[in-house]
Amino acid sequence: MTAPPGFRLPPAAQVAWLIANPRGFYEAGRRRFGPVFQVRFPGLPPEVCVATADLAEHVFATDSGAGRAGDIRRNFVGPLVGEESLLCLDREPWWRHRKLISPPLHGRAVARWKETIAEIAAEEVATWPTGRPFALRPRMERITLEVIMRVVFGITDAERLRSLRGLLPRLVELGGSAALLRLPPKVRDRATTSPLLLKAGALPTTRYVRVRDAVDAILYDEIARRRANPDPSAMDVLSQLVAARDDTGAPLTDQELRDELMTLLQAGHETTATALAWTFERLVRSPRALATLRDELADGGEGPYLGAVVKEALRARPIVLGAPRTLDEPISIGGYAIPAGWYVSAAIPLILSDPDVYPDPEEFRPERFLGEDAARANKAWIPFGGGRRYCAGAQLAMLELRTVLTEVLRGVSLAPVQARPERPILKNVTLAPSRSAQVLSRPRGALGGTGRGIMALSDR
Ligand code: HEM
Repeated sequence: MTAPPGFRLPPAAQVAWLIANPRGFYEAGRRRFGPVFQVRFPGLPPEVCVATADLAEHVFATDSGAGRAGDIRRNFVGPLVGEESLLCLDREPWWRHRKLISPPLHGRAVARWKETIAEIAAEEVATWPTGRPFALRPRMERITLEVIMRVVFGITDAERLRSLRGLLPRLVELGGSAALLRLPPKVRDRATTSPLLLKAGALPTTRYVRVRDAVDAILYDEIARRRANPDPSAMDVLSQLVAARDDTGAPLTDQELRDELMTLLQAGHETTATALAWTFERLVRSPRALATLRDELADGGEGPYLGAVVKEALRARPIVLGAPRTLDEPISIGGYAIPAGWYVSAAIPLILSDPDVYPDPEEFRPERFLGEDAARANKAWIPFGGGRRYCAGAQLAMLELRTVLTEVLRGVSLAPVQARPERPILKNVTLAPSRSAQVLSRPRGALGGTGRGIMALSDR
């Protein structure tokens, strides 16, 4: 057995192609080499990508054996979320954290937050401009950030909420900036710990450390308050994590709690906001689906079509490029041998656009997830990854998507600014819409059924 084929381009050229056209890069791999191929990026082991759901099952199966998901993420997000983060841990320490974090993020537990999420969304929608173009993605970030602060961190103090509203977006932006992430780890560690370098206020690393320390001070104080006054009826994730005990009866330490809060912020804020932005980007360009959804909502609220719209949006415009694992032992996939030390990854956008499972993949068709095709469509649907490392916040994300979509469509009519679809571009760790999901908004009813009137005007 041989290793899978791959581009002959040097790794630096492959990463440049990936940045210029992320989906095009992977689609070229599938076209040229088939469903198993390798890509190379500078300074990293070869990465083998698989492009069908059946092959992805083999990748996810490595979670119980040779595969480690935390190892790869530690290189990229370790300094942002901390070494004790669920994202970066592997094996036993990961399992201990996962068991403690799963109950407060379970579907039934997060369902209790629906009304709060609806209120947050309605408050945001009330601030939107009428009749002039604006970008939805930053608006969605405000909603998802508010959800993290109230639902996950459980912060109620108005003053504290106000200061975090300023600090957290800066933390996410500075932490995710290329200036920080692309530094070699040794340089980055020195720049974020050396007292001398931390005096240089103009350095992005120094600005990052100052914001991080301000956020940490608030988080550690929240942890101390929860420990001092435990409230068994509190619904926020932090209170439940403080109360949680592992199999030996031990609680999470302050450092572990802080790292998990940072993890939930970094993993759950931008991803969900981007998914919401894409959902609207697709919907306003799909008048039939939008009209069907409006009819369902008018008939009394959330029904199956809403769920299908959210699934189809995550399928047509997945947020995350891949779910990679480092291999501790060699494995074989699709007739190829993959050596120990290499990465193997489920190429999420390729699997979600596999024409054998999703015919005419470029079409936005929520009906795929209803009726007799639904079982097949659902089986290959992996926007949240899979295996044991499946997204821990998927239930919260789906609740946010359904609830915010409902509130927005109840409050306003939306229309695209340009008929041309927005391109997926790499923004921090997500595939985001190139113009941040530009729309026109009018109070409900002013656009008529589909908003085609405004679209025609603005396209001239
Ligand atoms: C639409 C929004 C979201 C998308 C598309 C998404 C996607 C993903 C993906 C693809 C993974 C990797 C899975 C794998 O490697 O197999 C992941 C992991 C994770 N996500 Fe999400 N996510 C979203 C929202 C959230 C939210 C809201 C939270 C929490 C507040 C969250 C927390 C996590 C955590 C903690 C992990 C690591 C799990 C582990 O390694 O055990 N995510 N997510």
